Amino acid sequence: MANWKVKRAPVIQGEITVPGDKSISHRAVLIAAMSNGECVINGFLASEDCMRTVDAMRALGIEIENPEPSTLIVRGRKRRFTAPLADIDCGNSGTTMRLLSGILAAQPFRSRLVGDASLSRRPMNRVIDPLVEMGAAIHAEGDKGRPPLVIEGGKLRPIQYFMPVASAQVKSAILLAGLYAKGKTTVTEPVQSRDHTEQILRYFLVHPQQDDLSVSIFGEQTPESRDFTVPGDVSSAAFWLVAAAAQPHSDLLVRNVGLNKTRTGILAVLVRMGAHYSEIIEESDQGEPRGSIEIKGAPLKGTEIRGKEIPNVIDELPILAIAGALARGKTTIADAGELRVKESDRIAAIAKNLRAMGGNVAETEDGLEITGGVPLQGARVSSYGDHRIAMAFAIAGLFAEGETIVEDIDCVATSYPEFYQTLEKLSQVHSGPPPTHVISSIPVRH
Ligand code: S3P
Repeated sequence: MANWKVKRAPVIQGEITVPGDKSISHRAVLIAAMSNGECVINGFLASEDCMRTVDAMRALGIEIENPEPSTLIVRGRKRRFTAPLADIDCGNSGTTMRLLSGILAAQPFRSRLVGDASLSRRPMNRVIDPLVEMGAAIHAEGDKGRPPLVIEGGKLRPIQYFMPVASAQVKSAILLAGLYAKGKTTVTEPVQSRDHTEQILRYFLVHPQQDDLSVSIFGEQTPESRDFTVPGDVSSAAFWLVAAAAQPHSDLLVRNVGLNKTRTGILAVLVRMGAHYSEIIEESDQGEPRGSIEIKGAPLKGTEIRGKEIPNVIDELPILAIAGALARGKTTIADAGELRVKESDRIAAIAKNLRAMGGNVAETEDGLEITGGVPLQGARVSSYGDHRIAMAFAIAGLFAEGETIVEDIDCVATSYPEFYQTLEKLSQVHSGPPPTHVISSIPVRH
């Protein structure tokens, strides 16, 4: 089990790029595989999670070349797949399992989806229920709708579905299944979640219709093959954005990052907390805006994160909790019960780790109350096998007195394999002789 050692290095000045967006990378592969021809995907995130989706598509008969880590050539087969010879292993990836379920629900064969220990604890009834209503037979072998899933696909009928939880994964599974159902499938969410599936379907000339919180799709459409470039992942940038925002005199520029409004809620939160940022959209010709974010640090103050804002910042809540611990006053995170069913119980993991570092935090059923401004102390903390917990606490370590050990960090390969390289540069610069805390050598990836 590998660990990280992190030392204090609070001021960040520099320029970075971050690897491709995880959510968009999964979708690009799936929709290219459903398309009517060859698609070149650039900027693909070659992380463990996204490679699970690639391997799943290969197991279902799709030819995919991977000439460089971030380039894929996918040969779509017009929504047709062949039966897998073995179980499909989704590893740690909830996105793979849930989105793939939508496609497999419509295939005329049986498939079995398995996952690692963390994925095997995650709820799947949220995708099983609507897909069964559409006509698929799905059996969850685990307790209370948990994986493995056995899917007997078949002819689907369109449905009108009101989602009980805001989940882009569930919405996407239904929309992908809807592509196989004759007629109009409509899914309505309680609160807007990320809309990458809708955007990429539009770019591939399938035309989902958006009406407030409802999205409809007409079935029996095949995505039109085309090339696609994945922007950098704002959820990966989030770690560096908070590291910069929380320290006066920091100034960080993140280039070529996705700026989809359903994902950039973290910027609004950081502004409320006192940071300054500017954002420049440089391109949005493929439906996904991309550009640069410049963030300047300031003494942060506490804030409330709740309600409709939650789905937009759901993956950023661990690092925003760290921002809260570094801010003056109280930060409240509420309405975020979904955090308990992510790669770990993130509410419990954040609370335990922050306490180990001397932070003042109370756990609630659906969130956290953090009284910030208490100096953090280096400590041994665990990732709990969860990539975002590992990275959030590595950033906390940059602000703590003494050394922080983050245990069990292999999980970071699921979303951000290069994270530690960047972090190490920061720590190395700091542990060198100049006592100025200035970090200026964050690597730039082109
Ligand atoms: C994702 C959606 C979110 C997010 C996850 C990726 C996606 O999950 O937490 O990391 O790619 O659709 P939910 O849709 O279940 O909230």
